[in-house]
This record gives sequence, C-alpha cells and structure tokens, in this order.
Amino acid sequence: MKESLLKENTATAKTAIFEVRGLTKVYGMGEVEVHALRGVDMDLYEGELVVLLGPSGSGKSTLLNIIGGLDGPSSGTVTYMSKNLTLATDRELTEYRRRHVGFVFQFYNLIPSLTAKENVSIVTEIAENPMDPADALAIVGLSERKDHFPAQLSGGEQQRVAIARAIAKNPSVLLCDEPTGALDSETGIVVLEALDRVNRELGTTTALITHNMDIASMADRVIHLKAGHISEVLINSEKLSPGELVW
Ligand SMILES: Nc1ncnc2c1ncn2[C@@H]1O[C@H](COP(=O)(O)OP(=O)(O)OP(=O)(O)O)[C@@H](O)[C@H]1O
Ligand SMILES: [Mg+2]
Repeated sequence: MKESLLKENTATAKTAIFEVRGLTKVYGMGEVEVHALRGVDMDLYEGELVVLLGPSGSGKSTLLNIIGGLDGPSSGTVTYMSKNLTLATDRELTEYRRRHVGFVFQFYNLIPSLTAKENVSIVTEIAENPMDPADALAIVGLSERKDHFPAQLSGGEQQRVAIARAIAKNPSVLLCDEPTGALDSETGIVVLEALDRVNRELGTTTALITHNMDIASMADRVIHLKAGHISEVLINSEKLSPGELVW
C-alpha cells in the first residue's frame, strides 16, 4: 500500500521548468518610472497549460517577455531548467530563444510572399531538432491550406500558421500573448483548439495571456496579475475543452 502511494506521488510530482523569483521590472521614461512588475514569484510546470489573466497594464506581457528572453528584469531571477537566464549573455539568450521558446502574438507576422508551409520552413531550417513543417501544419488543422499565401487565409488560419511556425522547432515552452485578441469568438475557439491540441499531443508547456476570463476554463492553472503582482493562482480540477467555452 505504502509503495503504491509512493509511486503515485512520484508519477504525479510536477517538475518546474521555470522558476521565477522576486522579479521586478521598472521602465524608465525620462523622469517617470513605471513599475511594471513588483516582485513576482511563479513556477511553470512541465506540460501544463497556464492562463495569465489581468487588467491592461498589470504586467502580463512584461512577464512573458522576460520569461521568453526578449527582455531582462530590473531585479530577481528566472531559472529555466536550472539555468539562470538573468545571468545569460545576449548570445546565450538568443540561443535560448531560438532553441527552446515558441512565441505567438496577437498579430501573426507571417511573411506575405511565402506560403503557409514556407513560413513554417523558415524556422525549421535553422532549428536543431525541428518537426516536419507539414506535420506542424497538420496538428493545427491546415494540411489542406499549406500552399496558400497569407492573403488567401482568414485571420484564424493565419494565426494557426503562426502557431505551426512556433511549434515546428519543438520548443520546450510556447508563450502566447493575446493570440485570439484580433479574432471573433468562433475563430478564436478554433485557434484555442489548436493550442490545446499542441499542449495535449506534444506536451508543450504553454503560457497564454488573455483578457478574457472565459478562456481561463481551458487552463490547468490560472494566474491572476494585478498591478505587477500575482494576486491569485487557481487550479482547475476539471478543465473545459475550447469547444465548450462560450463568450
Ligand atoms: N517598453 C516600455 N516602456 C515603458 N513602459 C512600458 C513598456 N512596456 C510596458 N510598459 C508599461 O509597463 C506596464 C505593464 O505593461 P504590460 O505591457 O506588461 O501590461 P499588460 O498586462 O500586458 O497590458 P495589456 O493587457 O494592455 O497588454 C504598463 O504600465 C506599461 O505602460
Ligand atoms: Mg500585454
């Protein structure tokens, strides 16, 4: 009995791939200082889907950008798989972003003169352990549209190409900043279904910023930010699939 309990505990023990400690960020704007992060402690666990919620200006993008190595903090540390990113050189950070981080933003930033498949291939050509671009497009449901140019695709389809591009390098973490911000709810749900599928099938740890409280129901955990602080962390004992979300 004891032994099986132990096994169960070991099997469910969560591994933190990111450890954020005492993170602050002060933007200097001439005379005015903006305190975007005021001491954030947070872990991200392997394979989980986390939603970051909070009002405009609460520090969500600042936090995600620092985790993704796009920006550095004013103080505090971010550790990725035991490596302190805050001590990394610019070159090491570039390497970190290139190998380990997939980004998805509100605007898709596809190259207009390249097809969906070519937009994905740009990344796989320089990645160390890439997926086949066709497989990345298949997981987001775009196999049929791989030879289309961005102008021939809807906003939701373009965002799914952007997701395929982000996952095609097999990143350890996928960071999404308002990926449905420019989409209507029906299209947004299709995009969220693609993210959910990536998370479930590839096991990619995913952090998803949104203003939309309803989206929180698809997360394993929901982290609320308020004025540069984490105000609440909730665990969803039962998460909904994106198809069950309504807003
Ligand atoms: N590059 C910058 N220079 C100066 N101030 C900045 C910069 N980036 C963000 N800020 C400020 O830092 C604070 C946090 O911004 P951040 O973009 O992280 O918020 P957010 O939660 O992502 O908001 P939103 O939901 O509107 O995207 C805001 O007051 C913002 O004006
Ligand atoms: Mg933001």
